[in-house]
Amino acid sequence: MSVENKTEGFVGENFNLEDLPIEDPSKFHLLNLKDVFGKQIKGNIETFENIFRPLYQKGFLLYHREVCSPMAPVVQVLDHTTGQKKEMLMFGSNNYLGFANDEKIKEKVIKTVQDYGIGMAGPMILNGSGSMQKELERKLADFKGKEDAIVLPSGYQANLAWVNSLITDSAVLLYDEASHASLIDAIRLGKKRAFRFLAQNMQSLEEMLIKYRGEDANRDIFVCLQGVYSMSGEVADLKTAADLCEKYRAYLVIDDAHGTGVLGKGKGTAEHFGVSSKVFLTMGTFSKSFAVTGGFLAGDKKTINFIRFFARPYFFTAAIPPMIASAVIAGIDEIESHPERVQRVLENAEYLRSELDKAGIRYIKTGSAVVPVFPPEGSVFRKIALELHHEGLFINPIEPPAVALGTERFRMSVMATHSHEDINRAVAIMKKVFDRARG
Ligand SMILES: Cc1ncc(COP(=O)(O)O)c(C=O)c1O
Repeated sequence: MSVENKTEGFVGENFNLEDLPIEDPSKFHLLNLKDVFGKQIKGNIETFENIFRPLYQKGFLLYHREVCSPMAPVVQVLDHTTGQKKEMLMFGSNNYLGFANDEKIKEKVIKTVQDYGIGMAGPMILNGSGSMQKELERKLADFKGKEDAIVLPSGYQANLAWVNSLITDSAVLLYDEASHASLIDAIRLGKKRAFRFLAQNMQSLEEMLIKYRGEDANRDIFVCLQGVYSMSGEVADLKTAADLCEKYRAYLVIDDAHGTGVLGKGKGTAEHFGVSSKVFLTMGTFSKSFAVTGGFLAGDKKTINFIRFFARPYFFTAAIPPMIASAVIAGIDEIESHPERVQRVLENAEYLRSELDKAGIRYIKTGSAVVPVFPPEGSVFRKIALELHHEGLFINPIEPPAVALGTERFRMSVMATHSHEDINRAVAIMKKVFDRARG
């Protein structure tokens, strides 16, 4: 089966699926797929299967790895390349505070199931506003220093919700080019007028603010950026962003998926910079530090109430179950009563960075719990990823389209529950694999 290939650097002029370069996994990128897909879905499914399956079975695509134990520093993983379960060191989970398997939180969740059952079977607007969900809304508002909050089934939907209920046809949204897919999809689905500024570049943001405020003194301008960038782990210059938004009368919205629980004594990036009062809306997720699922928006009372009645991704979907609300309430209590847990994740991240320095491994120096590590120059990224997997280190290979071609990296996430011994072992594995690749 031959498919015309238009992408340079893929596998040649006429891509022959039988000649798929299984031994050179660097040649295949998900980005290339749009060039080999045709008009009919059956053919596309077949093409994808033919490309994906051999690479997956050989272990060159480490997606959907099956974790068979609670999320903890050491996990059991069903290795799809061997069919055997094996123990792995987990450095690929956003369970930053170790709440996923916390005894106290689990007990509270079990009690909630006994008291409130397993779910609401309906949206918040009709029959899903249970006591636990309402308590969580109040708790989140306080936690984020805001008047009110709403809770949604995912952070993804939280981004859809605010973009589609607040951005009118005459408004513009200025957003960081490194924004999460959920914001991009919110813009696309809502057909909003939105323009990207250069990643984490406040000068680029200011140039756009000058342009769009200059064009219209009265229009709504929204600015959205992440508190902690998910793929680089870097912390946004939120102080400058807040000042710029004040100067040009723009609404500042932050996606604090990876800052919440980690920065600002766990309250997030705005608290860390002391700019909570300048943030119009905070979006967050329960899928990282709180280790469950769900998302939220926190802001002033009237805006949140407006979103409650105008955001379709909120009112046309069912409420999160009480047990999820209970897990997040217990998590917030834990953050507030045990600040040493938050301190611990930051110390662990710092310790990891210092050990990477000693081992001569390249990484992005950040102030968060995300530590992106680069493979040795000239190495085949997927081969390194597979060797790390074989050596028992679970870290997430990040490649295009999530990051630009040539900037592939391993995304390490640190947990408060990691010991220094876990970190030493992880760095030792990386050093061994990287040294081997250098030859
Ligand atoms: C920066 C950012 N925003 C939004 C989301 C979406 O959150 P959720 O997993 O709750 O849908 C994520 C999750 O990956 C994220 O990293």
